[in-house]
Amino acid sequence: MHNFLLLALLVLVAAPCYSMADISLTRQLELRHLLKHDCGSCHGMSLKGGLGPALTEDVLMKKPRQMLLATILEGRPGTPMPPWKTFLTTEEANWLLDVLLQGQSDVL
Ligand code: HEC
Repeated sequence: MHNFLLLALLVLVAAPCYSMADISLTRQLELRHLLKHDCGSCHGMSLKGGLGPALTEDVLMKKPRQMLLATILEGRPGTPMPPWKTFLTTEEANWLLDVLLQGQSDVL
C-alpha cells in the first residue's frame, strides 16, 4: 500500500499536463480527495454513475467542455448537482476535468 501511494505520487508529479504546474501538489491531492469523496457520493465511488451520471472519460469526451465546466462551477438548477464555485476556482475545476478526461480519477 505504501509503495502504491509513493508510485501514485510519482505519477502525479511526472504526469505531463499543462495545467498541473499551476496547482500545488498539496491542492492536487485535496482535489483528488474531493473528487473521490464528494463527487463520488453522487457519481459513484469509481465515478461510474450513481444518483449522478458516470464521469468516465468515454462519456465526458463527447460533451462540450464549456458545458461540463459550467456544470461543475454553477451546478444544474432543478437537479441534485450543486454548484462548486465556492470551493473550486475555475482553474481547479478545469484541472479536475483534465483528470476526468484523462481517465485518471482512480490514481489515488
Ligand atoms: C448531490 C449529488 C451530486 C454531487 C455531490 C455532485 N454531483 Fe455532479 N451531477 C449530479 C447530478 C444529479 C447530475 C446530472 C444533472 C442532470 O440531470 O442534468 C450531475 C452532473 C454532473 C456533470 C455533467 C455530466 C454530464 O454528462 O453532462 C458533471 C461534469 C459533474 N456532475 C461533475 C461533478 C463534480 C466534478 C462533482 C464534485 C466536485 C460533482 N459533480 C458532485 C449530482 C451530483
